Amino acid sequence: SIVNTRDMFQKAQIGSYAIPAFNIHNLETFQVVVETASELKSPVILASTPGTISYSGGDYLVAIGNVAAAKYDVPIALHLDHFESIEEIKKYIDYGFKSAMIDASHLPYEENIKLVKQVVEYAHAHGVSVEAELGRLGGVEDDLVVDEKDSKFTNPLQAKEFVELTGIDSLAVAIGTAHGLYKGEPKIDFERLEEIRSYVDIPLVLHGASDVPEEMVRRTIQMGICKVNIATDLKMPFSDAVKEYFRQNPDANDPRKYMTPGKEAMKKVVIDKIMMCGSNGKA
Ligand code: 13P
Ligand code: ZN
Ligand code: NA
Repeated sequence: SIVNTRDMFQKAQIGSYAIPAFNIHNLETFQVVVETASELKSPVILASTPGTISYSGGDYLVAIGNVAAAKYDVPIALHLDHFESIEEIKKYIDYGFKSAMIDASHLPYEENIKLVKQVVEYAHAHGVSVEAELGRLGGVEDDLVVDEKDSKFTNPLQAKEFVELTGIDSLAVAIGTAHGLYKGEPKIDFERLEEIRSYVDIPLVLHGASDVPEEMVRRTIQMGICKVNIATDLKMPFSDAVKEYFRQNPDANDPRKYMTPGKEAMKKVVIDKIMMCGSNGKA
């Protein structure tokens, strides 16, 4: 069955590896992720943003998740990514999602705490694990657009208080990554991560991990990152492969034909990301 993230995070923390969280959008991307995770014996998180849920339907995604969980012998978590509304989170928890991010990072600190606490209360009563963000990532993720000047790094001492007051299960940190692609090389503030880790002992989450050099991500995992979020690095090879297929077959119209190269291209990246996280063989 679909699980929450508690056990997988606990094992990842002890073993100093991370669980990859892949943003999926439809049946095809869902299939690639679960098939590949199963082949590599990796626990896996499938993340849906509000945009994905309105595109695919939360009920369909949970149904696909249940089929996958019965079919494959690896822990599979369905996660609500960057949800800002407690009503929506409650609704999709009732559908069967077992992991949720409440993103109240745009609110003033006190209000962020208040909203996150309410989500934790409901979620924990339903066996659902909760992630929240302190500080704010820049960049573009679906409808979430944060200008660089509005991005804000996580304050380590505040993070300690935030975790204690909210009772969250994992904390998303802003340490220099951004959603989408970077203009230059990302500058990751490893010292800040180290300081956060010294105050906070729950699993830490790295958003915006696409387009970050692999050694950098590996280093953050050694320093306490337990969940690595990947969206853009999957979308690009998928769509590039489909575009190339249409260039070579301009009259193609069969989705079973033109989607297949997209799935194959995406699969290669899913393999690389699982290896980067070190979660292979951990299921
Ligand atoms: P990327 O856009 O860098 O893949 O970030 C994904 C993410 O953080 C999803 O929440
Ligand atoms: Zn994110
Ligand atoms: Na990114």
